[in-house]
Amino acid sequence: MKVLITGGTGFIGSHTVVSLQEQGFEVVIVDNLSNSDRGVLDRIGKITGKKADFYCEDICNRNALKNIFGEHQDIAAVIHFAAFKAVGESVEQPLKYYHNNITGLISLLEEMKTAGVHNIIFSSSATVYGQPEILPATEDSPVLPATSPYGNTKQINEEILRDFLLVHPDFKGIALRYFNPIGAHPGGWIGELPIGTPNNLMPFITQTAIGKHAELKVFGDDYNTPDGTAIRDYIHVVDLAEAHVVAMKALLNNSLRENYSVFNLGTGNGFSVLEVIHSFEKTTGVKLPYRIVERRPGDVEQIYASTKLANEVLGWKAKYSLDDMTISAWNWEKMLSEQHFSSGGKV
Ligand code: NAD
Ligand code: WQD
Repeated sequence: MKVLITGGTGFIGSHTVVSLQEQGFEVVIVDNLSNSDRGVLDRIGKITGKKADFYCEDICNRNALKNIFGEHQDIAAVIHFAAFKAVGESVEQPLKYYHNNITGLISLLEEMKTAGVHNIIFSSSATVYGQPEILPATEDSPVLPATSPYGNTKQINEEILRDFLLVHPDFKGIALRYFNPIGAHPGGWIGELPIGTPNNLMPFITQTAIGKHAELKVFGDDYNTPDGTAIRDYIHVVDLAEAHVVAMKALLNNSLRENYSVFNLGTGNGFSVLEVIHSFEKTTGVKLPYRIVERRPGDVEQIYASTKLANEVLGWKAKYSLDDMTISAWNWEKMLSEQHFSSGGKV
């Protein structure tokens, strides 16, 4: 079975390519390398021993997509990862985000329709829930007004997909709402490649531990949580990748009741910032310099997923622990510093 992966050289995309290839899928990747590098392709090959067909193209370019679908008329489904994802940058450059993330999906759906490819999995985010009143967040929890253009693109994309599928009953789609993906493939060959100074917790921890930053700033310890720091549902990127394979099989086997489904992908467990730091220090033996500072504007206090739907309908459950996540992220950081992999198409 052949699948097209948009954004397949990125963080989550590359891990999903590995899982798909390991389970016998043939993979075609389209990525414009705006936030990843070509070297990822060789490193995926080192893990799986397989090659993916690769197109360095922008998915907003419909002719490029037409060409890919034309050359691979046996593509059965698409997993759509390609998007910009930096929340802060999206506030400063909203049009860049609306253009790439919204036009990208529309262009993809148009060309899938023309090519007769009728199955799509879309990367959504727990950011659509904002701060839920009731935890854990279920797929029925209200979608709250987005606090950034990035978050808004995820909400709008879900709506586009839902509305499109409503009038195309021959199409099937799944939106997967990821909680906080961290960690890296245990082999150390692929992982996250943040451009510049990372905003996310895990890459900032590993970069601090390796000496790129003097200290980690912990944003607030006055939240209404047991240790005062904010709580998230961190999920190992390999678990997330596996969930895409399971979701893909459900789509292709026609085993879902509706032609549009939404699933949370998290572990169901919430961990505080201090718990993540302590796990990192325990698994790596490295002492992490950190300091408590003011809350970061826009942060929610706590969120974690109800994973009941994915467990029951897809038969998927996350396997990896927080300790597995922190040690794998550290191994990747060490690999990065030894191999000098870089991001943004520079390798
Ligand atoms: P990433 O930046 O590592 O990967 C995205 C890939 O898409 C990159 O390789 C980039 O070069 C490519 N890309 C972007 N725009 C493109 C375009 N127009 N044409 C072709 N390629 C393009 O990000 P990621 O962390 O792997 O995230 C994948 C998806 O998951 C994104 O849609 C993101 O919004 C979503 N998501 C990520 C997180 C997270 O914390 N990482 C959480 C929730 C949802
Ligand atoms: C986690 C916790 C911070 C950095 C973001 C996006 C979301 C989704 C995932 C794509 C928070 C704290 C962080 C630091 C800290 N992306 N922290 N010091 O904010 O939950 O979600 O990434 O869809 O849309 O908003 O993740 O990793 O930035 O933060 O104390 O240097 O770590 O305050 O409590 P977040 P994060």
